Amino acid sequence: MNEEIVRRLKEAVGEQHVLTGEKETAPFLIDWTKRFKGKAVVVRPGSTEEVSRVLKIANETKTPVVPQAGATTLTGGSIPDASGRAILLSVSRLNKVEDIDTANDTVTVGAGVILENLHKAVEEKGRFFPLSFAAKGSAEIGGALATNAGGTAVLRYGNMRDLCLGLEVVLPDGRVITALNGLRKDNTGYDLKQLFIGSEGTLGVITRAVLKLYPLPKGRQTALVGVASPEAAVELLRRTRNEAGPYLTGFELMQAKCLIRVHEQLPDIGLPGPVDDCPWWVLVEVSCSADNGPNLESILGDAFEAGEVANAYLAQSLKDSVAFWSIRESIPDADARVGNNLHNDVSLKIALIPEFLSVTVKRLREAYPWLDPSLYGHLGDGNIHFNIGSIPYNLAFENEEGIRKITYEEVVKRNGSISAEHGIGQLKREHFLQLKNPIELELMQRISRAIDPNGIMNPGKLLPDRE
Ligand code: LAC
Ligand code: ZN
Repeated sequence: MNEEIVRRLKEAVGEQHVLTGEKETAPFLIDWTKRFKGKAVVVRPGSTEEVSRVLKIANETKTPVVPQAGATTLTGGSIPDASGRAILLSVSRLNKVEDIDTANDTVTVGAGVILENLHKAVEEKGRFFPLSFAAKGSAEIGGALATNAGGTAVLRYGNMRDLCLGLEVVLPDGRVITALNGLRKDNTGYDLKQLFIGSEGTLGVITRAVLKLYPLPKGRQTALVGVASPEAAVELLRRTRNEAGPYLTGFELMQAKCLIRVHEQLPDIGLPGPVDDCPWWVLVEVSCSADNGPNLESILGDAFEAGEVANAYLAQSLKDSVAFWSIRESIPDADARVGNNLHNDVSLKIALIPEFLSVTVKRLREAYPWLDPSLYGHLGDGNIHFNIGSIPYNLAFENEEGIRKITYEEVVKRNGSISAEHGIGQLKREHFLQLKNPIELELMQRISRAIDPNGIMNPGKLLPDRE
């Protein structure tokens, strides 16, 4: 990068917060899957004002800006290209939990606050922030907003879009929109924050947010339930939803082999007992803020009588619940340890999922007999991680295009989505551009041009290259 730009960036955020050396920039330039790598000058502003100065410099000099928070997305959305032309703008220093308002039930946070730190901070005040997923120990709020993250509690509390009441955003020209009034009702025109949520860093840099809080759940009941098929899991979902209503807070489907792999790869994570007697398992959680919620054991008893459930382990303590969740959340890590796989986060209407899984796996196996799927996900949200590995592992990557083509054909046939919660980034961009409704895509491009006329925001992600 041009030395004059680097000098101006140092002036804007302080010399020690501009990283240029290969060694010091390296941790910012590779993603969790180790698939996406790039090159850039890393800039770490410590305030909204400093973010604004950086964007002004970038806009004047038409320098690409790649915003990055915890960099835990699996799509390469916050990794620059290899040209070395970009500024990687890390929001990690914007890491203050600013205001926990227990009357309004909201919290104001910086974009660099780590999700788990937010959980702890609000818990100290007796409140609960429900967004949660495996990478909570390193994912940051700005990235969760920019990708409209989902995770394991969406069926009860919604995704990031539903949990956000306001944003502060720095526009590509450096102007700042501060819309942090934390109102639950506000019909004064377009809801612009929703444009930035899920925009994957293509419209501006999110610097702060107001998020919704909830009462801390008490009376948590968790079970690992063995079922014969995804069809049976859908029946169980119907039943627990009817019986537990809003107290149903988790419903995760997993192949038995995913659980077994977790224990094999991460022996510290124990299974509650044998799981090879059922091909599929469901992690069900019911929780409520009072002590007298529905009884999960009796719901499962009825399901057992109805033949929907074949086996079940009921958590006997909070420790057991945490252990069950740890099994579920460790699946991506366990998969990565045996060689990783082609990640997917498709969504479909819930009733279509069993048939989608069997048809798509059958088609894929006919074309690629060595295929080793790792199927799990948030069945309660209609969102499945249709992840495809292979033995040996490089085969899946060598045949990536063919595997994705078949998978996405079956998704599209059923009116589903190729990205439920991880976003598009670099990983799914070509498929997204082919499959998105052309009118919607054109509108997205117009919005991007209107807000970012110089095309500096996260080029190469989500949208087509500018002419
Ligand atoms: C999960 C991540 C991969 O559900 O979304 O574990
Ligand atoms: Zn997920």
